[in-house]
Amino acid sequence: MKSAVILISGRGSNMRAIVEAGLPARIAAVVSNRPDAAGLAYAAERGIATAVLDHGGFPSREAFDEALARRIDEYAPDLVVLAGFMRILGDGFVRRYDGRLINIHPSLLPAFPGLHTHRRALEQGVKIHGCTVHFVTGQLDHGPVVIQAAVPVLPGDDEDSLAERVLRQEHRIYPLAVRWFVEDRLVIENGVVRVQGEKASQWVFDAQ
Ligand code: GAR
Repeated sequence: MKSAVILISGRGSNMRAIVEAGLPARIAAVVSNRPDAAGLAYAAERGIATAVLDHGGFPSREAFDEALARRIDEYAPDLVVLAGFMRILGDGFVRRYDGRLINIHPSLLPAFPGLHTHRRALEQGVKIHGCTVHFVTGQLDHGPVVIQAAVPVLPGDDEDSLAERVLRQEHRIYPLAVRWFVEDRLVIENGVVRVQGEKASQWVFDAQ
């Protein structure tokens, strides 16, 4: 059975969705760069190994990345899952996990990379918003798209209501993407991800 290490910085609701999806994968550890990440307690309760590497304690981004990679490698995971991990990872780190590092981002990439995606979507007046699971490359919030979920932007939405609608879809698509990975079904051809095997829809549209 393949294994994954999940990196979090906070609440950890995506981590939780992955843990609770009953995937054919072993969650080897949950690692946070913040000691106060709420998701750590949940992981520990579930008997999952946890570790904290406080980025504040490192002299440089490279030193943090190196220490993080060493910690991850102790678990020798097949897959590294960024689940609300709010640190930019350097090129060396990204290269080290090339093809086995995935992220979820709360927008329909390539729209709205970076922070405050829901606020920016509302400011831009887009009518469809959503979330994306993608393989990580050296460019921030960029890389081969595994699956996307779209939701409508409704009249009267504020940042919180839109975030909540998108998050529901995040919890739906991230476990699916991890499942495809651990089942060895993802193939990247010329930067485009295909899912092998039985017909799989790489998009979700939820009008609720
Ligand atoms: C999620 O909405 C995730 O998409 C976002 O942080 C939130 C984490 O929530 N990630 C990013 O913005 C990364 N660029 P969670 O801790 O409850 O999973």
